[in-house]
Amino acid sequence: MKTQKLLLLIFFLNTTYLIFSQPYKNPNINIEKRINDLLSRMTLKEKIGQMQQYNFWKLDDATLKKVTEGKVGSFLNASNKKDKIKLQKAAIEKSRLGIPLIFGRDVIHGYKTILPIPLGEAATWNPELVKKGAEIAAQEATENNINWTFAPMIDIARDPRWGRIAESCGEDPFLAGTIGAAMIKGFQGNNLNDNSTIAACAKHYVGYGAAEGGRDYNTTLIPERELRNVYLKTFQTAVNSGVATLMSAFNDLNGVPASGNKFTLKKILRNEWNFNGFVVSDWEAISEMIKHGFAKDGNEAAFKAVDAGVNMEMVSENYANYLEKLINSHKVNGRWIDTLVAGILRIKFKLGLFDTPINSKPVSEFLPAQNKQIAKSIATESIVMLQNKNNTLPLKVSEINSLAVIGPLANSPKAQMGTWTLDGNPKDVITPLNAIKSEYGKKLKIYYSKAMESPRSTNKKLFKKAIQTAKKSDAVLLFLGEDEELSGETHCRAFLNLPGAQENLIIKLSKLNKPLILIIMAGRPLTFGNITNKVNSILYAWHPGTMGGEAISDIIFGKTSPSGKLPVTFPRTVGQIPLYYNHKNTGRPPSPNQLGRVLGTPVNPKGYASYYLDVDYTPAYYFGYGESYSSFNYSDLTLSKKIIDFNDTLKVSVIVKNTGKYKAKETIQLYIRDLYASVTRPVKELKRFKKAEFIPGETKTIHFKLTVDDFKFYDINMKYNAEPGDFVLFVGSSANDKDLLKSNFTLTKY
Ligand code: GLC
Repeated sequence: MKTQKLLLLIFFLNTTYLIFSQPYKNPNINIEKRINDLLSRMTLKEKIGQMQQYNFWKLDDATLKKVTEGKVGSFLNASNKKDKIKLQKAAIEKSRLGIPLIFGRDVIHGYKTILPIPLGEAATWNPELVKKGAEIAAQEATENNINWTFAPMIDIARDPRWGRIAESCGEDPFLAGTIGAAMIKGFQGNNLNDNSTIAACAKHYVGYGAAEGGRDYNTTLIPERELRNVYLKTFQTAVNSGVATLMSAFNDLNGVPASGNKFTLKKILRNEWNFNGFVVSDWEAISEMIKHGFAKDGNEAAFKAVDAGVNMEMVSENYANYLEKLINSHKVNGRWIDTLVAGILRIKFKLGLFDTPINSKPVSEFLPAQNKQIAKSIATESIVMLQNKNNTLPLKVSEINSLAVIGPLANSPKAQMGTWTLDGNPKDVITPLNAIKSEYGKKLKIYYSKAMESPRSTNKKLFKKAIQTAKKSDAVLLFLGEDEELSGETHCRAFLNLPGAQENLIIKLSKLNKPLILIIMAGRPLTFGNITNKVNSILYAWHPGTMGGEAISDIIFGKTSPSGKLPVTFPRTVGQIPLYYNHKNTGRPPSPNQLGRVLGTPVNPKGYASYYLDVDYTPAYYFGYGESYSSFNYSDLTLSKKIIDFNDTLKVSVIVKNTGKYKAKETIQLYIRDLYASVTRPVKELKRFKKAEFIPGETKTIHFKLTVDDFKFYDINMKYNAEPGDFVLFVGSSANDKDLLKSNFTLTKY
């Protein structure tokens, strides 16, 4: 007993000594003091070590040696919990100062419980729900000792050819910013120190989604005003939401690669926005500045990246190889290095890694039911109904005896999870076929036919069986679209139609004159205008994740009314791209009498305006569009004032009535248009939205408030101002004028 007490006393005295002799180890003192104390103890090599992130390949002596020598600040992709614990112990117990590692991972849309792809999450227009999705992702990731996710991806994406539109939150700065902020709040919670929260990473800073030709990693040319009024907006929202980190992008931005861009990384991010977290480069993006032709060699790449303000280098080792010499030769200021290292240490302290470096939460063996329920709710609310002729949907079990479930995506777990699902298990996925069988297998005869070997197959040998399956059924569910490999990083497409022989299959099935419901799974807007008249209903399910099958089934059979709205414009053809709702008016805007083209059939010119001879200038489906089983009537759009000054609050109200037979959610959208200004302004800009549930016959008055901040933009002098003038205000169910009530108001300075 005496020995135990003696040991306890020694441990207590030792810990007390350590804490007081090394304040950075004392959890009770201010983080900034801990940072300064630690920095004062670090050698230059140790500081540079914090600025280096390595990909984890295997737990070998060389890796452990790097850690114990203080040469590593972070690993990404250490997927095994045991490996992470061994690495962390090596860092805190064997390195000179015991600085913990931070483990990063692409937890983009769920960790083990896979949520819909972010584009689908954005289609919910439900930030509260999306926040819950990020919360459960963080819970599952922290069980595996992940402290940091490389999400949300909040690049404005206006080009569906770009494979990474799947990871984006769409084309609009307000919606994408709101959804991105919800993800950040879900990942980071109210306290990064909490053992179920992780640091978020707003990426890819900045302009990556504007890649020319929609081809990944391609050049981006974005004038400063467009950069500030569109592409930077979501990142500013993220920084204002307290995002812990950012990731600098691959792209050449106006001649200066984003990972060496002082204007965006220093002038804007630090000097204007006072960001004090840290920036990690994208994978080898610093080395790639040599290929860009922006750096002669690794030495110059390291200089340009660190001088611009990239705190941590992902995978390439230019910092490890050249920074010490650059600093010792005074080419790089030591105080600037301290600022960059402080940013990294600040997030490690905020995460509590110095105090609780290892998360001892047990790893749950199965997907928690609550997590699956949240994933299902997000998937259900992400599904957008684009068409429902003769109210074919919802299917009524009482009215049919048999059902054909056809297509290569009816039972394809991996495709259903979508891109970036490193830790999702296909075995956990509930596909539409399985969901429908389990729910309705006793009430209906359910026939399944894959119809194609894969979604991209051009082989029609399985069509015959599919047609026979459909012939003996009362209704046909057809699951088509893209597999996961056609979506995501570097997976860009120059054609957006349904791949392989899918269109042929639709045409063949349509000849049977059965109720034909098309469910499209995809990571981007596709073009399918030539088959919309061949099917009764179209549901766009994106890649809906682990619970997507149940979500789709619930929509098809009417357990829930579809409530998704498009977060991105759908073009009629790839030739229209870029096509987005918040475009400029031009000096010769087209008019309705220049519509009515048959896709691809040129007509005689009619008038001098901005249109095409061989396709309508309008989209196939508008931003914000999505149908419901119910119907909604908008009326009584009211503004509190018709003339407001810079100090006023403009109160807007509208009456919305559910005029249909179903309980359903509707997303009421508010747009404005600044009719004239010192620079041209978009024809519409989303400024508010509210998603609300209505029982049949229910009427609600929906209220919004706007202030002068909502009318500000970067003006002719590149100042962020509102300008007096006339505005149009729209409220309705999509960005299409025909779905909007209109009013107007005038803004005066005083
Ligand atoms: C990739 C992606 C980035 C990701 C990183 C780590 O190349 O561009 O989004 O987070 O590497 O996997």
